[in-house]
Amino acid sequence: MNMHILGTGSALPSTVVTNDDLTKYMETSDEWIRERTGIGSRHLSTGETVASLAIEACNKALENAGKKAEDVELILVATCSPEMMLPCCACQVQAGIGASKAVAFDVNAACAGFLFSLNTAYSYLKSGMYKNALVVGAEVLSKIMDWEDRTTCILFGDGAGAVYVEAAEDEEDTYSFVQHSDGVKGMVLKCGTRDLNNPLYKGEEQSKFVWMDGREIFKFAVGQIPVCINEAMDKAGLTKDNIDLFILHQANKRIISSIAKRMELPEDRFPTNVERVGNMSSAAIPVLLDECNRNGQLKKGMRLVLSGFGAGLTFGASIFSW
Ligand code: COA
Repeated sequence: MNMHILGTGSALPSTVVTNDDLTKYMETSDEWIRERTGIGSRHLSTGETVASLAIEACNKALENAGKKAEDVELILVATCSPEMMLPCCACQVQAGIGASKAVAFDVNAACAGFLFSLNTAYSYLKSGMYKNALVVGAEVLSKIMDWEDRTTCILFGDGAGAVYVEAAEDEEDTYSFVQHSDGVKGMVLKCGTRDLNNPLYKGEEQSKFVWMDGREIFKFAVGQIPVCINEAMDKAGLTKDNIDLFILHQANKRIISSIAKRMELPEDRFPTNVERVGNMSSAAIPVLLDECNRNGQLKKGMRLVLSGFGAGLTFGASIFSW
């Protein structure tokens, strides 16, 4: 069994906020943000929700694949910023696109969430349980940012991306992946949710916003991701010369450049869109994949590495042929 991505789609909020726009709300500058992150602008929600963006991305992915929602068997939504704790976003997507036969649930592995969801879909398809899936990464991170913490809030954006995948039963398997978690170091990037509020509890309130040790995250990504990609290539019996494109989590242009340098690879093998959309956590990889698909960068038979990393800590790399 092999798994193919047959269609991609994405959705971004209509409002674009440039670095210069941000200077109206905080002490910062276009120069500071660009120099340290490569980010020039991001899309921020003025009403779009994780579910509405995910639904739009899924409808586009189905259209791109030429498939009908009623035939979808599995929907996985990776998100760490859903509007609602219940029902999960994937069930809202199921209702929104009319995929009445599908099983739907969310996955939270932060910025590695889409990658882990794609690997989960592959494992279900490989087991023979389902024949196809919609895999989505969707975030409205702007609602969990502390807009008084200028070191963190400038990095992130809102958006959603989706892929439609299908099993090719008789084909040789070319999909391969590795994934890791390091919970011991997890508190370097965190966000609380609800406090215990039963009548017996007298504890302190936790912050409901994202807090990050930027330098530690930077070191983690630049140190671990080349090792992780090499591990995935070894597992697949491939070398970096067999890979056409490396589609990495779009956290920061400097992180991507450092990874390319450590792997002794030219940066043009690492497409980016972080300049225009910022870090969209689980939505970053599928939105970039959709852009590469629609602008003709992806040719049939190309071998791709996808690699995600983020809060948890979680990280991984997947390899497959387009
Ligand atoms: N605009 C202007 N100045 C800012 C600023 C902003 N938006 N944010 C912070 N500063 C200031 C700080 O106050 C500090 O000033 P000081 O030296 O007078 O105290 C100075 O800039 C340096 O701050 P620092 O936090 O040390 O910057 P840095 O060089 O470590 O860069 C990040 C910060 C966040 C850009 C960098 O650590 C990074 O990219 N980390 C990775 C984060 C990431 O990608 N997370 C998501 C992973 S999924």
